[in-house]
Amino acid sequence: MHSETFTIGLGNNNTAVRKEASEDYVAFWAREAQKLTWFKKWNKILQWDPPFARWFVGGTINASYNALDVHQNRQKIAILWEGENEDRKVITYGQLHDHVQRFSNALKSAGVGKGDRVTIYLPMVPELIVAMLSCARIGAIHTVIFSGFSASSIKDRVVDSKSKVIITADGGYRRGSIVKLKDTVDSAIDGLNFVEKVVVLKRAGNQITLGNKDIMWDDFVKNATDKCDAEQLPSEHPLYILYTSGTTGKPKGVLHDTGGYLTHINSTFRWAFDIKESDIYFCTADIGWVTGHSYVAYGPLICGATMVMYEGAPDYPTPARMWDILQRYRVTIFYTTPTALRMFMKFGDAIPNSYDLSSLRLLGTVGEPINPEVWKWYYKTIGKSRCPIIDTWWQTETGGMMLSPLPGLETIPLKPGSAAFAIPGVDIAVVDENGSEVPPDTKGYLIIRKPWPGMLLSLWGDDEKYRTVYWSKYKDCYYTGDYSIKDSDGYFWLLGRADDVLKVAGHRIGTAELESSLVSHRSISEAAVCGVPDAVKGEVIIAFVVPKEGVKVTDELRAEIIKAVRDDIGAIATPQQLYFVSKLPKTRSGKIMRRLLKAIASNEKIGDVSTLEDGAAVNEVQAAFDDLKKQMG
Ligand code: WTA
Repeated sequence: MHSETFTIGLGNNNTAVRKEASEDYVAFWAREAQKLTWFKKWNKILQWDPPFARWFVGGTINASYNALDVHQNRQKIAILWEGENEDRKVITYGQLHDHVQRFSNALKSAGVGKGDRVTIYLPMVPELIVAMLSCARIGAIHTVIFSGFSASSIKDRVVDSKSKVIITADGGYRRGSIVKLKDTVDSAIDGLNFVEKVVVLKRAGNQITLGNKDIMWDDFVKNATDKCDAEQLPSEHPLYILYTSGTTGKPKGVLHDTGGYLTHINSTFRWAFDIKESDIYFCTADIGWVTGHSYVAYGPLICGATMVMYEGAPDYPTPARMWDILQRYRVTIFYTTPTALRMFMKFGDAIPNSYDLSSLRLLGTVGEPINPEVWKWYYKTIGKSRCPIIDTWWQTETGGMMLSPLPGLETIPLKPGSAAFAIPGVDIAVVDENGSEVPPDTKGYLIIRKPWPGMLLSLWGDDEKYRTVYWSKYKDCYYTGDYSIKDSDGYFWLLGRADDVLKVAGHRIGTAELESSLVSHRSISEAAVCGVPDAVKGEVIIAFVVPKEGVKVTDELRAEIIKAVRDDIGAIATPQQLYFVSKLPKTRSGKIMRRLLKAIASNEKIGDVSTLEDGAAVNEVQAAFDDLKKQMG
């Protein structure tokens, strides 16, 4: 593997933490948990009935309380918000506290109580954080949906979670145009009688129609006071459901608790980011994804940090937008994605070089593997060879970081492209099919061998699926679905997904979800999709479809099908290319050989195809790829 190292830290070398964690991980996490404010202490640290873990049983806590009430300095800035259209707002901890209490009271008056689900479909505005913290305050379970998802994706999630209230906005800005969120919600919830209320924030000022369930945000809070005590909730009380794609047709509702999750987020936020009173932290993730939950909404606030929150596209209206934000707010910690970095890198060095980025002291990435050349570009051009980079590996299901350098804790040599080591108190290994650890530098499956505090409670309403998806491949071990190797120095390198999940621009999307959308089109009988490597997005989606008998194949039809997938799931699911083929490569038992599609796509040797039902299908797929390669140059 890549052996070049960069030893650059922030002067921290706290060896006691790793030692404590390795001696007794359960006691260790209890000590970490004590850094939060609990109403009542737990009587059992961990109840582990595999595969179900309950952390800090008997303890009571509240996420909103830990994000707001515990902070003495009400004048401290919590959020420096910038809209895509350059609207700006500065919100202090005190103001945020007041907003949240008022909105909590309004939710209560609308009949929302402990355990009720509330769907949030908002752009990246401070009210999104207000809505989440208000749900948390009264014990309602929030489920945030990324504002790029379509009406039918919202509908699936609202139906699955049975949300009684939806919080949205008239519209949001994206690349200078207005995305009409309220209209999308209208079509999503048409006929869903269990939805009682839709609260609408005025953001973009576009025309909307208010029906009898609808109420504007300002009217909703008009009569509410700004005093609302936080509910004392059991540690294992669900904080949120976040839907994520997997290997099955429909997204799964990942369910997180309160006490364990907050412990994990609080500790990892401090270890990874070395947060100080004076820091200006900026994570570019949208709150619609887990990174935004853990390291925009909850992490910085429970640590009392000041953060920048940005509404729009990172390269709008010019490719200098991010550097302009970093310069203007004097950002000290910047956490973004490899996809964004690859895009910035493509625009050239002159742009970042013309901004003053001297305030930066720490850089991070998340969501997909980072190529060593991009890492080095980030290190030199953005960090000016002064800032450590943390490559953080984790998942929606893990709640928080699991592998990462931790400059807030220790200084280690950094290897570009490696996520370094497991965080303290977490046991991760690379194993073969049988669960035995593989030797160094050997590819295997990444698994987690002991419960950890940020781990999901279950999948919403589906314990059985939780068991089969994550805990059936290896006994009492969590299966991540990722390939990895551990080098001879013990560094982890992530090698992408081992299952049928794609990572397009860092967003997770299941092949099964895409295929089920494709075959719902009237002219398609079968479909297979796979990811092919892309210089900016990491991976892009390529679809192969078999048209129904008698269907005339035209460019219009191709465009129509691509648009149908986009409308059905959302823009992130748009196939880059779609090919009509007369058959798909399948095994004799009828399973689509995705391994083969992927191999052809990645220019790898095809290997053994003796199990194929019909060799001619391979030729067709190969021909389609040859054509694609020609097009992509
Ligand atoms: C991938 C995002 C390589 C991985 C926080 C994982 C990564 C999936 C990294 C989870 C990283 C995340 N290096 N790959 N630093 N971070 N991944 O649920 O495949 O959206 O399983 O969570 O992203 O994606 P999710």
